[in-house]
Amino acid sequence: MLIYRASSTAIPEAAAHPLPPVLTALLLQAGCAPAGLALAAQWPVLPWTVAAGLLAGLASLVLGLPAWWLAINALFIPALALALLAELPATLWLGSFLGLSLVFWGVARSRVPLFLSSEAAGRALAELIGSGSEVRFADLGCGDGRLLQRLCERLPRLQALGIEYAPLPRLLAGWRTRLMGPRCRVCWGSLWRLDLGGFDVVYAYLSPVPMPALWEKACREMAPGSLFISNSFAVPGVAAEREIVLNDGWGGVLYLYRIRS
Ligand SMILES: C[S@@+](CC[C@H](N)C(=O)[O-])C[C@H]1O[C@@H](n2cnc3c(N)ncnc32)[C@H](O)[C@@H]1O
Repeated sequence: MLIYRASSTAIPEAAAHPLPPVLTALLLQAGCAPAGLALAAQWPVLPWTVAAGLLAGLASLVLGLPAWWLAINALFIPALALALLAELPATLWLGSFLGLSLVFWGVARSRVPLFLSSEAAGRALAELIGSGSEVRFADLGCGDGRLLQRLCERLPRLQALGIEYAPLPRLLAGWRTRLMGPRCRVCWGSLWRLDLGGFDVVYAYLSPVPMPALWEKACREMAPGSLFISNSFAVPGVAAEREIVLNDGWGGVLYLYRIRS
């Protein structure tokens, strides 16, 4: 059975991103709402919500936020005003906020949302790992545990450990893998605090943001000859030993990196 061993060199996610886009957007909205009100009072052509939206879109552009933030920032205050007109019960907003927080826990800092590996990724990983010998496998940010479940079903000798910090996916992952016994474990915590030293294969399906730091961690902790696999997000500036194109309809690719001594 794989046991959780804490990494002595934990990497604080926030260090790499002192001000994530979502906080920049919140500050920007806090500035643009009063500016929109003032502008509409001086120049009563547009409703203040539209003026605030236009200002927020412009500020988003000036601050160089990614393109999709322009639409989010421009539409935020007009959409908020429209939603308030609907007079929905406050508990609905609170419930939605809590529900989303439990699923997308920490996404503002980590910038890694929840989306799941495809069936094709599971098949390719199972083929790659093979069922011949015992392999110690880690899924960093295991989501709802679907991938762990698929792999353990296909590979009876796999020793698997998933780590996840979002409460709801973590609970689902535990429930999904409950019948696999001790060879499939799910831990609650940050992937940065997991020592990768005890694994033959480490898998990550995260986002471009953590890849440089994660690769450094893998090189520091994983044993020479072991395999680091990233789904869809290559390690910048490092040539993969192999790339497996997945027929998943999303253009997914498994990037395989062998740890060198
Ligand atoms: C894109 S999903 C991948 C889920 C799963 N590995 C799969 O392939 O189906 C990434 C997951 O990583 C989790 N995550 C992101 N940063 C994390 C961290 N620092 N520690 C633990 N989990 C993290 C997210 O909550 C999310 O569930």
